[in-house]
Amino acid sequence: MGEDIKRAWYKEMAVYQVWPRSFCDGNGDGIGDLKGILSKLDYIKSLGVDAIWFSPLYKSPQKDYGYDIADYRDIAPEYGTMDDFKAVLNGAHERGLRVIMDLVVNHTSDQHQWFLESKKGDDNPYHDYYYWRKGKSHGRKPNNWMSTFGGDAWEYDAGLDEYYLHLFAKEQPDLNMDNPKVREEVKDIMRFWLDMGVDGFREDVITFISKDEGLPSSPYWFPIGTGIEHYVHGPHLDEYLMEFKNDVLSKYDCMTVGEAPMMTPKKALMHIKEGPGQQLNMMFHFQHMEADCMFVSWVKLPFNLKKLKKVYTNWQHQLYGKAWNALYIENHDQPRIVNRYGSLEYREQSAKMLAVMYMCQSGTPFVYQGQEIGMTNNALPDINMYEDISTKNVYGIASKIFGKKKAMELAHYASRDNGRTPVQWSDAPNAGFTTAEKPWFYINPNYKQINVAAQENDPDSILNFYRKLIKFRKEHDVCIYGTYEEHYHESSNLFCYSRYLDGKKMLVVCSFTDKAVAFNAPEGFDLAAGQLVLNNYNTTGIINNGFTMRPYETRVYLWE
Ligand code: GLC
Ligand code: CA
Repeated sequence: MGEDIKRAWYKEMAVYQVWPRSFCDGNGDGIGDLKGILSKLDYIKSLGVDAIWFSPLYKSPQKDYGYDIADYRDIAPEYGTMDDFKAVLNGAHERGLRVIMDLVVNHTSDQHQWFLESKKGDDNPYHDYYYWRKGKSHGRKPNNWMSTFGGDAWEYDAGLDEYYLHLFAKEQPDLNMDNPKVREEVKDIMRFWLDMGVDGFREDVITFISKDEGLPSSPYWFPIGTGIEHYVHGPHLDEYLMEFKNDVLSKYDCMTVGEAPMMTPKKALMHIKEGPGQQLNMMFHFQHMEADCMFVSWVKLPFNLKKLKKVYTNWQHQLYGKAWNALYIENHDQPRIVNRYGSLEYREQSAKMLAVMYMCQSGTPFVYQGQEIGMTNNALPDINMYEDISTKNVYGIASKIFGKKKAMELAHYASRDNGRTPVQWSDAPNAGFTTAEKPWFYINPNYKQINVAAQENDPDSILNFYRKLIKFRKEHDVCIYGTYEEHYHESSNLFCYSRYLDGKKMLVVCSFTDKAVAFNAPEGFDLAAGQLVLNNYNTTGIINNGFTMRPYETRVYLWE
């Protein structure tokens, strides 16, 4: 293999993300839980993945569905007990599945013991665990920052006559990572889970943990996230990540992937470049999730394939041989991908094409629950039917700017709740998610057509396509470690790239349109001599070393 390529288990694995509340209800109370997860471990294994990332399972008031943690060492009672978790952990390990926990340490819940203590007074030992500040004269807040969920980033506490900082909901006070005691707490939490046997962490908004000294006001104003330039990639981030790495992570055989809004390849390399200074294994950036919007899907733009290709190609080139990509197209913060980059009319074809498009690149692929059956957005008629706190807040802002009708349309497109409806297991009542009369959240009414059971036995289903694709990737080093080259860069309909390793090569071609498009293999690729390894239409003829691509068609050819 090429000299600049180093093998590692985290590079070869595929990961399945579970958002516990909507995965599977094991005790019939309408809420997904650990018993439900345990009952589906064989299913997860059957996908061919190697690891599970659990969105937070910890004790939490669930104001931000687990991303507001009240106890880092305990399981939310609605999800089960620590013994239930250990059963899942062991069950996963027995099946050869690693377990990755969500580490949320930019903030805690306002019900965390540390925060409750910190409110007791300036001299309380926990006071400096958070950002408590006096207001400015004339009742002004300590600075002009706005929460990334909308509204002010400061909340007043009358008892203390001070404000605390919260970059997310007011129930999510930011931890003061400049306090060495807080960093010790973080390291202890890491050790607690690693010692129990978990295999790594997905680190929630970890690139926000260091704020500019003095918390200066921003000269800019946005309805959400004003001040973000003062913490998005702060002055001590390097130092703190290095400390976590040296003091804890380096002592375990574990992996880390950091969530990093507004991240660029150049900045990412400061943290994930392989070698002695490496702090994290991978990073979840967001640039490829902006091909149909500006920053967030609420600021909607027409889908732009050229923008998408540019981002992907840039990350592939900049990281190759130096660092490792994390590949995803869905998660619990994103609407469903077929609604965004694919097509509802060609749901099956486009879901398969999108899977090929991202998974055949170099990097570790993550698959979000329901993505593997092509689940779609669920438009709810009334804003009060939504659960997600950021949806409600941003809707409020959007309705002031655009009016209610437009704001509702945007919620239908952009709400995080689109990805949080219960997994559709079968066409049984409540999609087989729960035996309760009422699930905790609305089930997408299309579950009668779109569900796991229906796809299990259909060899051409999206589900079985995912299995085939994950298996193919795992068995072909060229797909994992090969170099990357883009073709037909100027096309606004086709995404075409090739991968090369040790004399082997593969060609990936994806159509992003519902119109027929002519495709001719790039120079040096003889389709007839290659092996067609993945395709989403039954007929696969070749004419003159090319073919007419049908709506959302994809093909992968291999030469070995
Ligand atoms: C991350 C999580 C998201 C959460 C936020 C605050 O972006 O993925 O779900 O709301 O951080 O913790
Ligand atoms: Ca339950």
